[in-house]
Amino acid sequence: MFRFVARSAAGKHLLRRGYATESVPDRKVAVLGAAGGIGQPLALLMKLNPLVSQLALYDIANTPGVAADVSHVNTRSEVAGYVGEEQLGKALEGSDVVIIPAGVPRKPGMTRDDLFNINAGIVKGLCAAIAKYCPNALVNMISNPVNSTVPIAAEVFKKAGTYDEKKLFGVTTLDVVRAKTFYAGKAKVNVADVNVPVVGGHAGITILPLFSQATPKANLAEEDIKALTKRTQDGGTEVVEAKAGKGSATLSMAYAGAIFADACLKGLNGVPDVVECSFVQSTVTELPFFASKVRLGKNGVEEVLGLGPLSDYEKEGLENLKPELKASIEKGIKFANQS
Ligand code: NAD
Ligand code: LMR
Repeated sequence: MFRFVARSAAGKHLLRRGYATESVPDRKVAVLGAAGGIGQPLALLMKLNPLVSQLALYDIANTPGVAADVSHVNTRSEVAGYVGEEQLGKALEGSDVVIIPAGVPRKPGMTRDDLFNINAGIVKGLCAAIAKYCPNALVNMISNPVNSTVPIAAEVFKKAGTYDEKKLFGVTTLDVVRAKTFYAGKAKVNVADVNVPVVGGHAGITILPLFSQATPKANLAEEDIKALTKRTQDGGTEVVEAKAGKGSATLSMAYAGAIFADACLKGLNGVPDVVECSFVQSTVTELPFFASKVRLGKNGVEEVLGLGPLSDYEKEGLENLKPELKASIEKGIKFANQS
């Protein structure tokens, strides 16, 4: 374990002036896969979050360097790096939120499901450790295919007797981030004002942005809505192709992951009306897991919100996505229970 404690006078001054930390509870966040393309910028963004008091950075390699680097940033949290399976327990112990970007990313021509064979096993092992060392933590699953890795996590936790459906989240925030960006560009509105719910899952047509509910309202043509929907669904592939074999979205994902983790921390701290979209256990449709707006609270999911009114195009998209999403969920459940 490599521990770095930022106790500089500058740090203290920053805390006093900016954050009134006396009233902010201590919160430990663990990042599993912290030395990766997402993990490193996500570690930095979590170090910048004043709600975090301890930041545990775990990977199978290279975390000492990442932790040393990030630890010099003069913000509230203490940073510790953990490397290798024998240090995983220490990394997890006492965590309030565990963020999982561990696993392989896509290359051009691959689907997210093509990552299943490698990532399913990684996620299964990490979740078994979470069940053992921090069973009450909120789990933010980033590793793909999210449509299957979240059901895998649920099964692992059920087997360990620790499953709490309020505490398991598939991170779909990047779909929302993209939908907001693309909508603002087309509607010519200030991106900072834009809200767009994105429901369903996190792969291809299972990603269903609800532009009919986008605000500020804009009278976009049907073809524009269809093009925005397709671009949002293919956003990950756009990045994979642009990176040409060097991986998938890392920086925008770190941003999205940091937003979602921050929302989880705010919910835990009792901040009212914290709402984000996430892939969670759900009764919104007949599928056992589904992404929709979720109200976050002191125990994780406080309320899974409904879909709201859908356009005919969105209703059609919803029906079209169900078979693929159902198959991905079932694949994850089957894997967790047979291996
Ligand atoms: P990367 O290869 O750059 O980093 C992955 C890291 O995971 C590596 O540092 C690796 O050492 C580590 N790792 C591997 N096995 C591990 C284990 N057992 N325990 C801990 N760490 C382990 O990949 P990346 O670009 O950071 O992407 C990571 C994952 O996130 C991929 O599966 C990718 O598809 C997914 N992703 C999801 C979203 C989303 O919106 N949910 C967005 C982008 C990427
Ligand atoms: C994304 O949406 O960027 C991620 O799921 C990574 C990928 O493979 O597209």
